[in-house]
Amino acid sequence: MDTHSPTAHLDSLIVETPEDFRVSGRLYTDPDIFALEMKELFAKTWIYIGHESEVASPGDFKTAYMGLRPVVLSRDETGALHVFLNRCRHRGSVVCRAERGNVPRFRCRYHGWVYGLDGSLQGISKHKGGYPDDFDKSQFGLMPVARVENYRGLIFANLDPEAPGFLDYLGEAKPFLDTHLDRAPDGEVEVVQGAHRTEYRGNWKFQAENSTDGYHGDTVHESFFKLIAEFGNKGGMHGAYAEADLEDIFEHRMTGRSMGFENGHGIWESPMTADGLAGLRNGGFGDYVDWLEGRYGLRRAHEMMNSMNLVIFPSLAILHGQFRTWRPIAPDRTEVSISFYKLKGASEAYNDFRLKSYQRFFGPAGFGSPDDVEIFAFNQTGLQAEEVNWILLSRGMARETMDNKGVRTADSTDEAPQRALHRAWKQWMVR
Ligand code: FES
Ligand SMILES: [Fe+2]
Repeated sequence: MDTHSPTAHLDSLIVETPEDFRVSGRLYTDPDIFALEMKELFAKTWIYIGHESEVASPGDFKTAYMGLRPVVLSRDETGALHVFLNRCRHRGSVVCRAERGNVPRFRCRYHGWVYGLDGSLQGISKHKGGYPDDFDKSQFGLMPVARVENYRGLIFANLDPEAPGFLDYLGEAKPFLDTHLDRAPDGEVEVVQGAHRTEYRGNWKFQAENSTDGYHGDTVHESFFKLIAEFGNKGGMHGAYAEADLEDIFEHRMTGRSMGFENGHGIWESPMTADGLAGLRNGGFGDYVDWLEGRYGLRRAHEMMNSMNLVIFPSLAILHGQFRTWRPIAPDRTEVSISFYKLKGASEAYNDFRLKSYQRFFGPAGFGSPDDVEIFAFNQTGLQAEEVNWILLSRGMARETMDNKGVRTADSTDEAPQRALHRAWKQWMVR
């Protein structure tokens, strides 16, 4: 560590020893740290922008954010995809204001400059006399984001021209991303329903940590599991608990594993049970189970049916049929956006079952996600008692193992993914 570095002081805010892992509450509350995150982290890591099925046709666009920066993902007339900064080259207004849509070109609403779907500046309103005749429009297109990667339909972008390639960045987390996509008979997924959004009064890292947190479910989602225990579970991918009582459910939730990877990625995984598998077959989805078993073999197919939440650092989670992103707005304000995806090649009935299961727990009126969001706001309030300072993330360190690729594995209720996240945070933030 360079002690003259402007960010060296951050080093003391994350403490790691073989038995102890703590981070300072300041990571979640300090405006200076938040500003640095926008610069050192959200401008240098690979940020998920959207899925190519969201911009399937020429003229389609979707707006997104890389940290605080507004960006646009568009498909031009030739079918090529572009990601550029959503900032007019005239006086800086956001050019594309809608969340998504289809347009022949983009027109800034302030003074009317017009840009092509590829971001090129095509027209300046009242050009004549206002600017020289030889004004070079080619220099004033919407600024492209330095790096864009399309991995099996997922579009990631990076503002840093020197950043490692996306697959290097993904590292040992790649097979887990592939597992989500390999569940589709056609090998790809499709976002078709738009997104639902929610905003909470808390730091973005609460959502990043929570998406692989196997420790909170029994308390935060107790009411959901009570419902399942009381009324059964015919209609959801939490099918592992088909006939279970509450104690069985809680016991099952202790099985599975959590993992932390380099660069901050992580997973939480909970096994599918024989009951759950039988439930799918008896529920009319035997075709799908047969396909998966035939394609991947029994052992792998059943492993692929586990519940598995994947976080790709810093701001994407893939779980339970959804792409979930979180957008930092302020140290204590975050917007979460969730898009359900279909498995291409699976029957409409199976995709519909998946959608209903997703809506039941994660939807705007779902039994699960709203409870998480409420907790994030309480976290932020609790951290105002800054005399306490430390947040403990040491759960399961004694039973965590590490392989020769730096992959750490622990029990399903352990904080291995959260530790991985904070190690990566430190790696980018402390220079
Ligand atoms: S700010 Fe866009 S045209 Fe003036
Ligand atoms: Fe939760």
